[in-house]
Amino acid sequence: MQTKHRFCAACALLLLVLSSCDMTNNATSGGITATSGNVTIAQIFETAKQTSGYTWYKKSDALLAKTPKSAHAEPFMRTRFNATAAQMLDASGKVKEGAVFSEGSIITKELINTDKSLNGYALLIKRKADPNADADGWVWGYVTASGAERHPLTSKGNGCIGCHSIAGHIDRTLMNVSVP
Ligand code: HEC
Repeated sequence: MQTKHRFCAACALLLLVLSSCDMTNNATSGGITATSGNVTIAQIFETAKQTSGYTWYKKSDALLAKTPKSAHAEPFMRTRFNATAAQMLDASGKVKEGAVFSEGSIITKELINTDKSLNGYALLIKRKADPNADADGWVWGYVTASGAERHPLTSKGNGCIGCHSIAGHIDRTLMNVSVP
């Protein structure tokens, strides 16, 4: 009887965990939310295209000129934050000083060509248990406008983080440095 009870408790826990995510993998209509497994490039691409519930940096969807500090080749960009990430924005839509983004935060940067067409997306996804997360819990996603991987997801941001650690970064984010 004792064993049976213990088994049921384990079951209940498992069900609770499973019901909080979609079982095929970890994307939901609201974005990537699950707690286990790794997000795939395909999921990152689907997430990148989501705009509903997102807040633009400084509350503006205007295309911003790339800054000299940026390695992102495209001349224009703009960045948006999902509802969880947006909790770290102040009243003017800038990232709060000292902010540490919580689990489930998604920051999507649109990379835009001279002719204003979209060339790709760079994403930061706070997902601490993801096998591809860095030491801060960020998954670094980089895809083309058609969803092809542009930088290895499994590199855990190697090639991104150095730059994203320059003076003034807030939890590795740099919009506040480039567009203060
Ligand atoms: C040479 C420096 C540099 C490298 C390398 C770099 N970035 Fe960035 N990134 C920037 C700067 C600067 C910004 C701020 C916006 C701007 O000026 O373009 C930025 C902005 C971003 C943003 C918007 C959120 C924010 O506030 O930082 C994301 C997401 C992002 N980068 C992802 C990546 C990914 C993924 C990689 C690696 C594949 C990468 N970056 C490599 C410099 C860099």
